Amino acid sequence: MQQLARDLPRPVVLVPTMGALHEGHLALVDRARKLAGRKGCTVASIFVNPRQFGPREDYQKYPRPFKRDCLLLREKGCDLVFAPTPANMYKPNASVLVTESQLETVMCGVSRPGHFAGVCTVVTKLFHLVQPDIAIFGEKDFQQLAILRRMVRDLNFSVRIVGHPTVREPDGLALSSRNIYLNAEERRQAPLIQRALRDAEEKLRRRPVSRRALESSIRHWIERGPLAKVDYVAVVDPETLQSKEPNKLPVLLATAVFFGGTRLIDNILVK
Ligand code: PAJ
Repeated sequence: MQQLARDLPRPVVLVPTMGALHEGHLALVDRARKLAGRKGCTVASIFVNPRQFGPREDYQKYPRPFKRDCLLLREKGCDLVFAPTPANMYKPNASVLVTESQLETVMCGVSRPGHFAGVCTVVTKLFHLVQPDIAIFGEKDFQQLAILRRMVRDLNFSVRIVGHPTVREPDGLALSSRNIYLNAEERRQAPLIQRALRDAEEKLRRRPVSRRALESSIRHWIERGPLAKVDYVAVVDPETLQSKEPNKLPVLLATAVFFGGTRLIDNILVK
């Protein structure tokens, strides 16, 4: 891949994914196509990265419809798919990790220890292998995007990071490869997540409201779904991800919710 990368027409625009592609991923590929222009080229990586899954998470059962993914990428005009195996990517005694130490201590970092170090490490490796000029990430994983921006800034990667808005189902549920794990009743309740965040946005635009009041109103909205178990609700500064009173914008409203064993995340940036 590294040898091939040297001869690719520039700009090279990379969309890192774990496959099981849906319209959210494909929107990133569309964006990549536009940013690459007529001269440049688009690369999608498909790699279910074992290092970012916890021991009790869904690494084994994560869907891997590789042929279908390749067809979808071809339809979208993606020029190259990079799909290494775990053995290609990690030597058995690999011992170097890339870790971010501030933004990963909150939100998803609390319930998924080691997750963001796994993400930073694999994205570093993908950057070294594909040598992109631009890389695109979804705002659905807002904390991931913030951490990767910080990594690129602090370690002087010469890659421009572009964030892309969250693509949703008509009922508001953010598209995710994990939505297929939901049973019919869980799927019916899952749009409460987005409704709760929207309701909170309206509240805070209408009149002053404290962070605590906002967090508990989001929690209560979501828990109207009897199958929903809230992991966290956060009202934070979108740069630092530290808790902040929502009287000054911008503010990020973010949440993670379990439906059975399935953990869904969503957020709204109020500007
Ligand atoms: P994955 O979950 O496959 O997501 C790949 C990219 O698609 C991420 O940048 C993610 O934010 C984006 N994405 C997912 N759902 C989206 C939606 N509904 N709307 C817009 N963008 C969406 O995120 C990962 O993989 C991995 O952590 C990875 C970065 C590939 C490193 O392993």
